[in-house]
Amino acid sequence: MIRSRTQVGIVGAGPAGLLLGQLLHLQGIDSVILERSEREHVIERVRAGVLEQGTVDLMHEIGAGDRLAREGLRHDGLYLGFRGERHHIDMAALAGGRAITVYGQNEVVRDLIELRNTAGRPLCFGAADVSIHDVDGARPLIRYRLDGQDHELACDFIAGCDGFHGVCRPAIPSSVLRIYERVYPFAWLGILAQAAPSCDELVYSLHDNGFALFSMRSPAITRLYLQCAPGEDLAAWSDNRIWAELLTRFTCADGWTPNTGTILQKGITQMRSFVAEPMQYGRLYLAGDAAHIVPPTGAKGLNLAAADVWRLSAALTSFYRKGTDDELRSYSERGLRRTWRAQRFSWWMTNTLHRPDTDNPFDRRRQDAELDYLVRSRAAMTSLSENYVGTPFD
Ligand code: FAD
Ligand code: DHB
Repeated sequence: MIRSRTQVGIVGAGPAGLLLGQLLHLQGIDSVILERSEREHVIERVRAGVLEQGTVDLMHEIGAGDRLAREGLRHDGLYLGFRGERHHIDMAALAGGRAITVYGQNEVVRDLIELRNTAGRPLCFGAADVSIHDVDGARPLIRYRLDGQDHELACDFIAGCDGFHGVCRPAIPSSVLRIYERVYPFAWLGILAQAAPSCDELVYSLHDNGFALFSMRSPAITRLYLQCAPGEDLAAWSDNRIWAELLTRFTCADGWTPNTGTILQKGITQMRSFVAEPMQYGRLYLAGDAAHIVPPTGAKGLNLAAADVWRLSAALTSFYRKGTDDELRSYSERGLRRTWRAQRFSWWMTNTLHRPDTDNPFDRRRQDAELDYLVRSRAAMTSLSENYVGTPFD
């Protein structure tokens, strides 16, 4: 058994764990990041792509903003398509100049791994059988195997940044943990295509066949999603069928259509709303998907993870610098306020833009009226915009 110690043991090297590691490093706080997967797998996972203003600002503050500034695509607005028409929403004008930036999550992770290596702080990929112990005592432990050796890491605190299927949340006794959950009757089929984006902003579209979303990754790569059934078999979706369905769902009177091209990657994402309360137990603090999941329609998952670790690093800094633990004690309560705001918005965006099989003619008319109100009312557009670009981290 190899024994070592650190101030903060971080489980998971997704956006939450890597951002936290860098924030702590900048405050001179020591951490070890343990990641189950291999480096290439972590970097190559294609996931979210929309960064809120607060996440972009945070990336700059921690020294991870260079490539983001060069390659990230700032969007001041977006389009909503329904009943064959596209409507533009000028988000930045409605949300005090705040905007979103399109930059792939895998690029964020790549930049953060590079920063960690530059900092020279430990980041272990391929850590097996990670388990956490004594989180309700003064000296929690993380045990794991690396390169065939057993390790035990003594920590002051453990940050559970290990995503929805991790080991940290289950370490909170079920008598303490409350789970709030909703599973949606649809999923997203997402593709990455070798095709120049044919519009410089996102297009969220509702058609009688269901939802479709146009996004991008670079001047040469388009990212597209379409609503499908939750248990959908990817094998049933040939490239031709995917393009035909996307083109149908995006049909609109102004003639806009996405460019087609070779499909480089495809996958299915389930849709779920999930909140675990509280986000802390003893010396264990959950951040990101370990604590909450949102359906992707509002593009909030990655951004919520960033807001969590921003708050956690500030609380840990106060603890180490000033010896105060009030920010640590209020970590969960403050985080849940933001989480539930994002949950409400993501749930609303999802219901407003998807067609469940069970809806009836009344539901359809009501949904049309909701969208019609949205694009005609400055108040409604402002509400959408301020939620979509994200409120400042608090
Ligand atoms: P993750 O990114 O999940 O990172 C957790 C890390 O912990 C992983 O690297 C994992 O390997 C590691 N880990 C897990 N268990 C252990 C263990 N026992 N020991 C050590 N390490 C462990 N959001 C959007 O807004 N739009 C999208 O289109 C979108 N698409 C998505 C597609 C998929 C398939 C998934 C899963 C998520 C998607 N999301 C999307 C959500 C978004 O990607 C997440 O909210 C974001 O990744 C959260 O970051 P995180 O660091 O909390 O968790
Ligand atoms: C992307 C993902 C989202 O979930 C979303 O709401 C908008 C864009 C994307 O991958 O680009």
